[in-house]
Amino acid sequence: MTTRLMTADPESLALAADLLKSGNLVGFPTETVYGLGANALDAEAVLSIFAAKGRPADNPLIVHIYDQAQLSPLCDIPDRAPVLMNAFWPGPLTLLFPRKPAIPDQVTAGLPTVAIRMPSHPVAAAMLKACDLPVAAPSANRSGRPSPTTAQHVLQDMNGRIPLILDGGPCEVGLESTVVDLCHGRPVILRPGGITKEMLEKALGEEVSVAGSVLRPLEPGEKALSPGMRYKHYAPAGTVTLVEGEEEKVVALLKELCLKDIAEGRKSCVLCFSEHVPFLSDCCPHDMGFSKDYSEIAHRLFDILRRLDQEGMETIYSEVIPPEGVGLAVMNRLGRASAFRTIRV
Ligand code: TXA
Ligand code: MG
Repeated sequence: MTTRLMTADPESLALAADLLKSGNLVGFPTETVYGLGANALDAEAVLSIFAAKGRPADNPLIVHIYDQAQLSPLCDIPDRAPVLMNAFWPGPLTLLFPRKPAIPDQVTAGLPTVAIRMPSHPVAAAMLKACDLPVAAPSANRSGRPSPTTAQHVLQDMNGRIPLILDGGPCEVGLESTVVDLCHGRPVILRPGGITKEMLEKALGEEVSVAGSVLRPLEPGEKALSPGMRYKHYAPAGTVTLVEGEEEKVVALLKELCLKDIAEGRKSCVLCFSEHVPFLSDCCPHDMGFSKDYSEIAHRLFDILRRLDQEGMETIYSEVIPPEGVGLAVMNRLGRASAFRTIRV
């Protein structure tokens, strides 16, 4: 199959809508990461998403809509959901809803809930409107690779596997949406993202909890609240180690560890804040952005993780940020990229 990479315009959007309506897959931009879309009501089209990604069938998908009026045939609406929909849709927030039978089992992996979000990216909104279908879409990476934040990333992973990628430029947020479960009592963040715990609590006027496995590995026998949390994710081929502690000691240790590996013949690098790049210039520094600019760090992270593999890095040492605001989402992804391997100084 030839994969066409097209700038989003009325012609390519009409083509995307035709492809979706006839059961095909389309790569498309959202404000979080690029998605790999199929008609959510067409079980066979949904199955082809799993094939294209190499994704385990027991990991459910997110359904994308452009209008709240699309919800009623798909799901029931829990009590607190309208508050969050009105506050954060369109935007990087996914909510779980009790599903109705119109949603095929292939979308939810047989779970009684369906995850739904309304993306704010104008190309995503235009495509959803043009096909007028609920579109099931995971991130458009091969399973286990970092999510794509540019159309080029999608092409790297999906060339020859899908007919069309719409190019809408780099994704603004750069990390996947926040996933929140409102169906089981107190609201729980299953996956942190651009809509933060603090923002959710302010809108709801109550405490929101965070699934335990967000900042640590699953314990043996522990059930993942969100099936996607079970899988090795975002991990480059090399070994990532996080270094945390007092700024000066962290930077000195990053340099020591990296230079030792290089001296012993390993390809090694550091992920560091912009202000530390000059000090670490002989450690192949990957600039994460300034330490206080969590949004910029989120925006750059997946592109950096993808480049580590292209460069054949064997050992990678990274700085960390506090798990506050968008920092929680950054540390969740970095934690899983490193299998939570951390040195404290
Ligand atoms: O930002 C995003 O959410 C992107 C863009 C394309 O919208 N999509 C995305 O999809 O990240 P994906 O498939 O890579 O991640 C979906 C996550 C997985 O961790 C999955 O387990 C969880 O959402 N999920 C989906 N349905 C669920 C359900 N019914 N219950 C619990 N978790 C669910
Ligand atoms: Mg994904």
